[in-house]
Amino acid sequence: MNAWMRAARTGVSALRLAWERLESGVAFNPLSSALMADPYPIYARLRAKDPVHRLRLVNGWLLTRYEDVDLVLRDYRRFSNNMADSTSHRTGLITLLDYDPPDHTRLRSLVSQAFTPRAIRRLQPRVSALADDLVRQAAREGSEFDLMATVAYPLPVRVIAEVLGVPASDLGLFERWSNQIALNVEPIVSDAGVERIRQAGRELEEYFEVILRDRRRNPREDMISALLAAEDAGDRLSHRELIMTLILLLVAGNETTRNLIGNGMLALLEHPEQFERLRRRPEQMESAIDELLRFDPPVQLDSRTALTDGEFGGRRIRKGQILITSIGAANRDPAAFERPDALDIGRSGKSHLSFGRGIHYCLGASLAVREAKAAFTSILRRFPTLRLAAAPTRRKQAVLRGLAELRVRTDAAPS
Ligand code: HEM
Repeated sequence: MNAWMRAARTGVSALRLAWERLESGVAFNPLSSALMADPYPIYARLRAKDPVHRLRLVNGWLLTRYEDVDLVLRDYRRFSNNMADSTSHRTGLITLLDYDPPDHTRLRSLVSQAFTPRAIRRLQPRVSALADDLVRQAAREGSEFDLMATVAYPLPVRVIAEVLGVPASDLGLFERWSNQIALNVEPIVSDAGVERIRQAGRELEEYFEVILRDRRRNPREDMISALLAAEDAGDRLSHRELIMTLILLLVAGNETTRNLIGNGMLALLEHPEQFERLRRRPEQMESAIDELLRFDPPVQLDSRTALTDGEFGGRRIRKGQILITSIGAANRDPAAFERPDALDIGRSGKSHLSFGRGIHYCLGASLAVREAKAAFTSILRRFPTLRLAAAPTRRKQAVLRGLAELRVRTDAAPS
């Protein structure tokens, strides 16, 4: 059980949150329903009253200013990704995300070799075809359907399965494993949850072993074969690291990209003038996706551990303390963005922090953007009068913010 969970379980959380509020006038409860429903007013209060906020549920701090989040994510010498109390250490699924240099540098350079911009560019027609296909199938469901189940859930799993080179017939299995293991990045997971993640990890590991045996004998033009070549090239990539990297690639892009499609479509549907603007000016798609990523980021919280005692934002940070960097709050910081709570698909200026910063900057960023672009293009083209059919339902998670269901209605005849 980790510290967040212990605090919640032992019933001391209410007391500790009261203590936080007494100290600074604000408190941060990562599992509160108010935060799940709409975190941005809560972030705004924290940023205004106590931007480097002492957390009392864990031994750490919450950062909500753009400048601070940007700095901590970049400064790997002072702030480590290797966090002893993290869910990944409890499950044993340790990946690139948990490493610091020099291991991180070695592993990332190997994975990047297989994940080249050229390889991703080559995928574009396939990604568009997959998105079109799903949107066409959604249209067959009638005038009302769930955009999450029809497009946002299946698209990223199908794309990554093709990138890695796993058979389409195993997609169902993949989706189940991926959903379980995505929780590996959540800070608050029960012991039973940790066991479920471990079990999914074991099953996925066995599954990949079979595929690896096949690719060793019959290499193909896919990422698994490219990573195998790196493993065979010497002692630079251990077998365990190879397996963990495959697991990371499978899960890192699924729930995140799904949430970009879901949160992004919801933001457009709640701002019909922006929906219409994008429909009429599809050439604004790239900047629209950046804005949707800024506005409601799929990854809300990132974190680091302080490697040394030091001062930060006027507060004394001790070695070993956790720094929770709120990407969601940083992206709405008025010091970085004009009218930060407005959705403006033509916005320019500072870039959002939704893919992180520095050495851990998201390896799949351009793939995720391509997938979202394909999905939005296809949805807007086919459903020009799309609107919400019901209030959406949210998943209850602290780090990955997304929807369980997004029911929409369209009255135009599908083209
Ligand atoms: C909208 C979709 C996505 C979002 C919002 C997102 C967000 C992030 C963030 C915030 C990080 C940095 C974590 C840190 O600072 O510790 C990250 C890292 C990473 N992401 Fe993504 N991601 C997305 C899609 C993808 C996709 C599609 C893939 C691959 C298929 C992917 C693979 C990775 C990997 C491998 C890392 C680790 C990089 C490293 O530690 O050096 N992500 N992502």
